[in-house]
Amino acid sequence: MKFAILSRNAKLYSTRRLAEAARDLGHSVRVLDPLRCYMRIANDDFQMHYKGRAMSGYHVVIPRIGASVTRYGSAVLRQFELMDTFTPNPSDAILRARDKLRSHQMLAAQGIGLPATVFGDNPDDTNDLLSMLGPPPHVIKLNEGTQGAGVMLTEKLSASRGVIEALRGLYAQFLVQEFVAEAKGADLRCFVVGGRVVAAMKRQAPKGDFRSNLHRGGRARGIKATKAEQDVAIRAARVLGLGVAGVDLIRSARGPLVLEVNASPGLEGIEEASGVDIAAEIVSYSAQRHKRRAAKRAAAKRK
Ligand SMILES: Nc1ncnc2c1ncn2[C@@H]1O[C@H](COP(=O)(O)OP(=O)(O)OP(=O)(O)O)[C@@H](O)[C@H]1O
Ligand SMILES: [Mg+2]
Repeated sequence: MKFAILSRNAKLYSTRRLAEAARDLGHSVRVLDPLRCYMRIANDDFQMHYKGRAMSGYHVVIPRIGASVTRYGSAVLRQFELMDTFTPNPSDAILRARDKLRSHQMLAAQGIGLPATVFGDNPDDTNDLLSMLGPPPHVIKLNEGTQGAGVMLTEKLSASRGVIEALRGLYAQFLVQEFVAEAKGADLRCFVVGGRVVAAMKRQAPKGDFRSNLHRGGRARGIKATKAEQDVAIRAARVLGLGVAGVDLIRSARGPLVLEVNASPGLEGIEEASGVDIAAEIVSYSAQRHKRRAAKRAAAKRK
């Protein structure tokens, strides 16, 4: 099969591993920079060019679209979809996952556990907003934050108010959550491929911190997620429509709670911690889904 990987940089670990896995499994593969893909949108056909050459006939495209190119990248991916290329993560699913408020609403509506979360726009509403959440400690998260930067813990109501006031002054977008103390500074990354948890790792915060991000000094080790944790991770990916997802969970007294569903999860940390060849899992799953879809279409045509 003909594979494309949409990625800004062929040297990135995840991109490299996916290309390697595709080749090892006998496919042809090209890494395409989404920002160098350009397209013709018309009633008669959908075309895509790359650095002056027409692109066509790709069976599978694996998106590795970074947050900074979400909009253009998902338009390129949608063009591939319109040209009949299979993607494990459709453009609409990526857009849903990238929007924190939207994905929280969708997950909660499907009965998936989340830390209680509030957000609001007007400073006049801060007191009532915090009363909707309940007593501190609170976790305040910048929407733009990543790798633990921009995640703050406030122990007192006055501190929550002060931080919120400061963030509003900077026109920052944020949400406020209940602090899940039982998680004891650990979170779980479940890697979902095609409705299965193929690998999981536990990340533990360094002493004195509640954030388990590896960039904050957290430590990772491969574990086997419990049945309940696997179920929640699989359902979260399915609700957002993702075939490949990194689902972050914390363990609470009322069961696993979803912190985030990542549509472009990195492979490096988790392949190392778990010893699982996740790139091969993604490639095999995508090839299989493309094959099944092609067979279905051929059968429908014959009818
Ligand atoms: N409500 C909470 N209660 C307890 N601990 C939390 C809570 N939210 C986050 N944490 C801890 O803080 C860490 C960082 O939070 P989070 O994962 O939400 O932000 P991020 O890693 O900066 O951003 P993202 O994962 O969305 O890219 C989590 O991995 C977890 O260990
Ligand atoms: Mg995180």
